[in-house]
This record gives sequence, structure tokens and C-alpha cells, in this order.
Amino acid sequence: MKIENVELVRWFDFPSLGDDRGSLVALEGSKTIPFDIKRVYYIFGTRSDVSRGFHAHKALKQIAICITGQCKMLLDNGIEKQEVWLNSPTRGLYIDDMIWREMHEFSSDCVLLVLASEHYCESDYIRDYKVFSKLKGLPYEA
Ligand code: TYD
Repeated sequence: MKIENVELVRWFDFPSLGDDRGSLVALEGSKTIPFDIKRVYYIFGTRSDVSRGFHAHKALKQIAICITGQCKMLLDNGIEKQEVWLNSPTRGLYIDDMIWREMHEFSSDCVLLVLASEHYCESDYIRDYKVFSKLKGLPYEA
């Protein structure tokens, strides 16, 4: 049975390079971000009653940053689940490979920026929780 001993919730706090003109955050692959950034995407215009995600990735690592507004992220390593609010443009949530994620309760102004370690690849997705549990070597619990 493969059981992680790394923390499920890992935050990255980014320095805000603010001055009297406003704030600025700079993110650099393999420096501020712990992988080479191969892809960037952002989610916006999601209604608060719509949830997203419901998948894990076999190899992809990501950092999610709520640039504006807020949403709730559920992370699940198959044994432990944790829910956190993403609501700061200076905080990134690290989402490791083989972590089930769900996003809920998007505010209407939410812009969720995601930095990804790989190009888009549908075959890297695990969209079935039973398959996820099985790949983790865990018995499936609904
Ligand atoms: P999906 O990953 O299912 O969204 P979420 O997990 O946030 O609910 O992606 C939605 C659609 O967008 C799906 O058809 C795949 C496509 N997509 C890309 O083409 N490239 C990408 O980088 C991402 C993240 C999604």
C-alpha cells in the first residue's frame, strides 16, 4: 500500500513586491514554483452552485492561486481529506500527483490561476474515484 507521509496541504507564500502604486507577485519556474511551469490556465465565471475538479492526476503537479475572490479546495490522498479556502493572490496551494481534488463554492468574482508541471494530457487524468483508490492500493469507500 502506497501511503504518503508528506503533508496533504502545502502552501507557498509568495513575496508581494508592493509599493505605493500597488502590489506585484512574480512567479518563476523551478524557483518560486517547485517545478518547471509548462502550462498556465485559469478558471473564472464559475457559479457558486457549480463544483469542479473531481479528478486526480497520475503525474501532474500543480499550484493553484486564487488571484481574486475565493473558492474552497478539497484535497484527498485516499486516506485523509482536507478542505481549505483559496482566497489570497500571494498564496499558492501545492497539489501533488495522485491527489484527488474538488473545487466548491466559487465566489462570482473568483479567478483561479493554476500553474502546471506538464502540458495538457487527458490520459494523465483519473476521473473515477474507484480507480483512484485502486491505484493507491486502498479499498474503495463511497
Ligand atoms: P477539466 O480539467 O475537466 O476542468 P476542472 O477539473 O476544472 O473541472 O477541464 C475542462 C475542459 O477543458 C476539458 O474539456 C479539458 C479542457 N482543458 C484543456 O483543454 N486544457 C487544459 O489545460 C485544461 C486544464 C482543461
